[in-house]
Amino acid sequence: MRLTILTKNHSTVRQTARPVERGWLATAEARSLIRDMIETMHAANGIGLAAPQIGRSICLVTIAYRDGDLVLANPEILKPSLRRINEEEGCLSVPGVFGLVKRHRSLTVRFLDERGEERELRAEGLFARVIQHEVDHLHGILYIDRTSKFTKGRP
Ligand code: NI
Repeated sequence: MRLTILTKNHSTVRQTARPVERGWLATAEARSLIRDMIETMHAANGIGLAAPQIGRSICLVTIAYRDGDLVLANPEILKPSLRRINEEEGCLSVPGVFGLVKRHRSLTVRFLDERGEERELRAEGLFARVIQHEVDHLHGILYIDRTSKFTKGRP
């Protein structure tokens, strides 16, 4: 089921989300929510979606990753690179606007996957950028809070 994506002025989007319980990930509710988030993300042509954007204040993120979709519960960023890159970014909760945001070039993310298993992935480039953007969402932070310059977006 496609969910409604909330925009930047909604209180849930601006709240700090709470961590999920490992056991909760195995419930029918969690599976259904994850399925709906993935469907919603793709329907909106997004490459990432955080639960607060669909009205759930929990630390759960989906990312369109290579051939598959990645589910990250309670993601934690470790070992961010010193090097940062300034690139254009957008957000499904801020439609029609883009901006330059400086992000770590690479990082490691530790998270629980949809089976409740702890995983770590090394990420760089766009993947690292999406992770930082989505983890920001879990703290009620939007890229527009960090942008140095608004842009028109890619053609
Ligand atoms: Ni976003």
